[in-house]
Amino acid sequence: MRKYINFGIACCLLLSACAKQSNTASTTDQFVDQLLSKMTLEEKIGQLNQCTSRWEMTGPAPKGDNIQNQLENIKSGKVGSMLNVNGANETYEAQKLAVEKSRLGIPMLFGYDVIHGYKTMFPIPLAEASSWEPELAKLSSQVAAKEAAASGLHWTFAPMMDVGRDARWGRVMEGCGEDPYLASIFSVARVLGFQGTDLSKDYTVAACAKHFAAYAFSESGRDYNTVDIGTYTLHNMVLPPFKAVTESGVATFMNSFNLINGTPSSANSYLQRDLLKGKWGFKGFVVSDWGSIEEVVNHGAAKDLKKAAELCFNAGSDMDMESDAYLPYLEELVKEGKVDESLIDDAVRRILKIKYKLGLFDDPYRYSDIKREKELVYSKENRAIAREVAKRSIVLLKNENQLLPISKNTKSIAVIGPLANDKDIPLGSWRAKAISNSAVSLLEGIQSAVSSNITINYAKGCNLSISERSFAQELVFEENDKSGFPQAVNAAKKSDVVVLALGEDCWQSGEARSQTDIRLKGLQLELFEAIRKVNKNVVVVLMNGRPIAIPEIAEKADAILETWFAGSEAGNAIADVLFGDYNPSGKLTMSFPRNVGQCPIYYNHMNTGRPSPSGNVFWSHYTDAQNTPLYPFGYGLSYTNFEYAEPNLDKESYKLGESVKLSLLLSNIGQAEGEEIVQVYIQAPYAKYARPVKELKAFEKVKLAVGEKKKITFKLNSQDLGYYAPNGDFLIELGIYHIYLGRNSQEVQKLSFTLIE
Ligand code: NOJ
Repeated sequence: MRKYINFGIACCLLLSACAKQSNTASTTDQFVDQLLSKMTLEEKIGQLNQCTSRWEMTGPAPKGDNIQNQLENIKSGKVGSMLNVNGANETYEAQKLAVEKSRLGIPMLFGYDVIHGYKTMFPIPLAEASSWEPELAKLSSQVAAKEAAASGLHWTFAPMMDVGRDARWGRVMEGCGEDPYLASIFSVARVLGFQGTDLSKDYTVAACAKHFAAYAFSESGRDYNTVDIGTYTLHNMVLPPFKAVTESGVATFMNSFNLINGTPSSANSYLQRDLLKGKWGFKGFVVSDWGSIEEVVNHGAAKDLKKAAELCFNAGSDMDMESDAYLPYLEELVKEGKVDESLIDDAVRRILKIKYKLGLFDDPYRYSDIKREKELVYSKENRAIAREVAKRSIVLLKNENQLLPISKNTKSIAVIGPLANDKDIPLGSWRAKAISNSAVSLLEGIQSAVSSNITINYAKGCNLSISERSFAQELVFEENDKSGFPQAVNAAKKSDVVVLALGEDCWQSGEARSQTDIRLKGLQLELFEAIRKVNKNVVVVLMNGRPIAIPEIAEKADAILETWFAGSEAGNAIADVLFGDYNPSGKLTMSFPRNVGQCPIYYNHMNTGRPSPSGNVFWSHYTDAQNTPLYPFGYGLSYTNFEYAEPNLDKESYKLGESVKLSLLLSNIGQAEGEEIVQVYIQAPYAKYARPVKELKAFEKVKLAVGEKKKITFKLNSQDLGYYAPNGDFLIELGIYHIYLGRNSQEVQKLSFTLIE
């Protein structure tokens, strides 16, 4: 390991004296206060400044300063944190400048978007949530943290916990879907996975709860667009995951790009000061999103960058990511009395404390370890975990005539489609340091799963896109060239079964990837129709980052497997499921619409005043489509069948504070061992403020052998029955409650009880 040698200048003794001290609250405070007392206002403001490296951009290219200025800024203590510097060597070199050249030698914090893996890619977060196994999310975050930390990183900009209802918004891939309860559980698991119990360990990184807040509610699903939601939705749908991770000790928060009810999130004092740092008692710091301080001007909430700096800083945005607003203006604003220096001290204290907890004042290079980086990153062990997580994230959407699993005695399999042998798309967007084209393709996975006696007939059929593909570029789709169709049709004709891989390019989802049309792009549907004409045994393997509208495929394909962007081991994991080595157990966490006009569509909606067919037109419906989704929240099939017996409640009424106990007998009545996700929803049919038709409150993933029966029990406490009033007060109301227990949000059995005083 490269050891730190020449530590700081003026602050050397102070820092090393503290180095051996333990990481308790009082020693941290003491250390930070002493350091703060030595800092000039300019140096303090430097800690609030974050800039990107110049070799990787995860937003619009930075304006203004050039690389030379940046280096000078680091050397003069004007950069508290950098993003997009990664690799043990690169972080070491950058850190050296801050530590050895700046007056106080305060180490920089290196942050990066480690969203679903660092180099070993796990399934995208939306996929991982489909496992309904938060322990898996914790595990994959642990692995990602280990790899990232060995490459010199201290901080990941994850988890993203925006509850997403609108499939048009490309960033739903980064979240957990449409339910705040599930999002809370998964986000807490990810925070614990990234951070562990001790941030100073060289295998943990600080996590970042993002995007605070309501970013996913952008109007019509267009990224960066205006958000205008009521405080009722804000408190009940948007904020719960953020509150949950605050309680579990998340180190940092990131705010969001959007305007919310007229105020940009970065300038939102209610969210950041009153709620987060006030009522919730958050002790970490808030970083802005990329350029989101500067964008306050475009939103029309500040006349210039200086005013934006004033508004955002006073509203509680502690660190400026890539707006270059704090460095030039904060000192002036303090002198003019528009920003209080005590608030600057508070922000700097918050940032220094995280640096302290990470152990950076003990050894600023502790994470930049070339040897560990070589050993740990993209290891065989990590890839084995990625395969495990991926197979458990896959959702079986349809399986007629028991087409799946495919028998390993099948004589011939056609593997067709633009995504069938693609080694890049399964890596997904926000792929950190994944090597392009490094995923196991579906074709490769199938080839290694079956013996050489099986004939594999591969044909691509058509391309999906014809443009260059990257994080920053728009895609152009292939609309004309069908020259590969005959070969694909021929492969289908001569095979017993067809595995047809369709879906999205991974650069169709993620940031800035909103779509008004979420059907399959290009020639894919035509390819499907052509294949289906010559072979009815078609298994469609979908790869995508959002719910897509596939009514034709849902009607005509015998089997559909939703595999999302499954990561480095995609092909192997999909093959595990296709051949029945693993019985699929995932369920959707976002509703799949029948067509884009239904978006946003979500299970936990309000009832409306006219919810049911009335015999005439005067009820809440579309005249050209059903109200229900194509596949609802919580939906997913298995190769076996589960029978739900009638559920029971132990009482008809419960006193406030008493647990509601329910149970049911679940039986595996099919022919394979399998796992079922039993789901519990509640509804208050009337309340002071009307409640949604259903809200997920509990679930259990249960494994049953063939013929096995198991009594499943759940306990709900009074808190689970509560909700937030529009003013943010938490209410638990007496009265009738319905419980819906079942295999998805639509196929349920109903029970009722009364909550009494
Ligand atoms: C903008 C994205 O909104 C945010 O999620 C990400 O962490 C930053 N860019 C940094 O790359």
